[in-house]
Amino acid sequence: MTHASITDDGLPIDEVGAWTKEKHTRLRKYIGITSATRRKWIQGSGCATYIDLFCGTGRAVIRDSGEWINGSPLVAFEASRESGVPFSEIHIADISQESSKAAERRLRTIDATPTVHVGEATNTALEIVKTLNPRGLHFVFLDPYKLEPLSFSIIETFASLRYVDLLIHISVLDLQRNMERYADTIGGPLDRFAPGWRMAVNLKQSKAAARAAFTSGRNEAAKLIAGQPDYAEALCVLGMADAALGDKEDAIREGRRAVELLPVTKDAIIGSKLVQYLSLIYAWTGEKDLALEQLSFAARIPGYLSYGQLRLHPYWDPLRGDPRFEEIVASLAPK
Ligand SMILES: C[S@@+](CC[C@H](N)C(=O)[O-])C[C@H]1O[C@@H](n2cnc3c(N)ncnc32)[C@H](O)[C@@H]1O
Repeated sequence: MTHASITDDGLPIDEVGAWTKEKHTRLRKYIGITSATRRKWIQGSGCATYIDLFCGTGRAVIRDSGEWINGSPLVAFEASRESGVPFSEIHIADISQESSKAAERRLRTIDATPTVHVGEATNTALEIVKTLNPRGLHFVFLDPYKLEPLSFSIIETFASLRYVDLLIHISVLDLQRNMERYADTIGGPLDRFAPGWRMAVNLKQSKAAARAAFTSGRNEAAKLIAGQPDYAEALCVLGMADAALGDKEDAIREGRRAVELLPVTKDAIIGSKLVQYLSLIYAWTGEKDLALEQLSFAARIPGYLSYGQLRLHPYWDPLRGDPRFEEIVASLAPK
């Protein structure tokens, strides 16, 4: 999402993808189906709150179609009003003062009276929770455009409330683009969002999913190689897929050929990656000595062999526990 032009009401507007409409439909539906619960709380404690920590400007234009739509705080308030049980209290927040002020102005035009907060979501969460009625029913919408600002501490902050629901939007596009980087970065966005995931996720337990993924990766690589038989990276992908699918002989042949075609002397960066992948191919096909030989070479040349990935990624499990592997990992530890 980027800030686009100023609109006819003189306020800034966000520019968004078409999927935003689906996000708002879900928000609207959730607010619709919870109206009976809200009514009970409003009659009891007098309080049913809406909290939007990543509120944006309250108005957006869809990039491809040019259609203008309301932003989440307005969608939420209007949905609650249409359900017959409007939120009794609204808190909006954004890291951008300009955005949260614009959202406030727009909410006021539809007779909502929000409390506005500006700042990083982890801080505004703490600020807001302090002011809430402990007997009230609270609904929190968390909608960052990427995982980065979504720290688990925000969820912990709201979990301290007795009656709270959270609707969290996680951008699949962001995960698809950045998952590898997130998984590789110790203490990075994924660790902050889901602390402990590294201990909990055991890829070995999802063999069927892994098999399907490797089969489709294999098919893609095979198509590329049919057109370009000397395409080293594709050969390497094919080798890894074959190794994962249990075709040892082909896997090793493809991995070796990839390294021959693009050695580190020809391409220091891709070449060193191919050496790492050849090591993985050996590891997955039970050739531990050959795997360690390649890995030790990869660790000595400049490249992108990641300490965090070697230490934690289940890919390297077949070598774990071997003192030679542990020595290589230790040699890459941040000094
Ligand atoms: C996807 S947009 C929100 C869109 C809005 N919820 C809607 O549906 O109309 C994400 C918003 O998060 C804000 N933001 C980015 N990082 C933030 C952070 N660390 N804390 C709070 N807000 C942040 C951005 O300024 C942006 O307005």
